[in-house]
Amino acid sequence: METLQNKAILITGGSSGLGLAAARVLLERGARVAIAARRADALEAAARQLGGDVVTVEMDVARKDSVDAGFAAATERCGGLDGVVTCAGLTFAYRIEALPEERLRHIVDVNLIGTVLCCQAAIPLLRERGGGRIVTVSSASARHRNEFPHMAIYGAVKAAVEKFSLELRDEVKRDGIAVTCISPGSFVTDITANFDAAATAEAYDLWCRNHGPESDGMADPRWFGEAVAHCLSYPPGMAVDFMEVRPNKPTSKR
Ligand SMILES: NC(=O)c1ccc[n+]([C@@H]2O[C@H](COP(=O)([O-])OP(=O)(O)OC[C@H]3O[C@@H](n4cnc5c(N)ncnc54)[C@H](OP(=O)(O)O)[C@@H]3O)[C@@H](O)[C@H]2O)c1
Repeated sequence: METLQNKAILITGGSSGLGLAAARVLLERGARVAIAARRADALEAAARQLGGDVVTVEMDVARKDSVDAGFAAATERCGGLDGVVTCAGLTFAYRIEALPEERLRHIVDVNLIGTVLCCQAAIPLLRERGGGRIVTVSSASARHRNEFPHMAIYGAVKAAVEKFSLELRDEVKRDGIAVTCISPGSFVTDITANFDAAATAEAYDLWCRNHGPESDGMADPRWFGEAVAHCLSYPPGMAVDFMEVRPNKPTSKR
């Protein structure tokens, strides 16, 4: 495997949860890491937690002007770009009938449009470097029924991220750019912090009655970070196209 020492890696959604865990592991491996998110206070808190030389960049992945400015700032401060991890994402739990239009559009804008805008910004910078790696982030919700209910649009959008990643792989391999899509199962993060309480109670009740007893448990975000580091460490000409990382804990069965 290749070393990550001095590799410049930008992680969107790097102020929290899975992105923050990835930043921690990559810093431990000697990479130069930039973390991007919308909230400056959360970025600063994450940088304090990480210690060392981490670059923070305010960026809204759903806005092209913000993405382009953020990638330019991160590249300048890290001395180039060798890889990007498009980890910014969010979801809400609502029955399809009850999902407010504004939240529907927000799920699509951040998870899908945001991923595409970040890849568009990354490609010329990686090409300039002679190649590099893009890691996109899907979700086990795209495939598995025992994930949390009432997240149909989120699952559909993450399935689109997987298809997009597969197509992108073929488009950029001539430039020495490899694309990996990682699909996480359930990890302990703040992703449910924005959930509407009543809609969540309804989804939770359904989950307990149906898929809950078959759940595989919740995982430590560190294992996502390890998966990212692994996928970024393959030598040129080799890539993990798709990886699903899920907890596999014994749980009570019905
Ligand atoms: N946790 C899980 O079990 C799980 C499972 C499968 C997939 N995932 C995926 O993993 C990724 C990370 O989720 P997480 O669980 O780590 O959630 P999290 O703890 O809520 O972190 C989300 C991160 O994304 C950033 N973000 C949200 N909207 C953004 C925007 N418009 N522009 C830039 N940054 C934005 C947040 O910062 P700001 O709010 O400050 O912008 C934060 O840094 C997501 O793509 C999620 O879909 C998570």
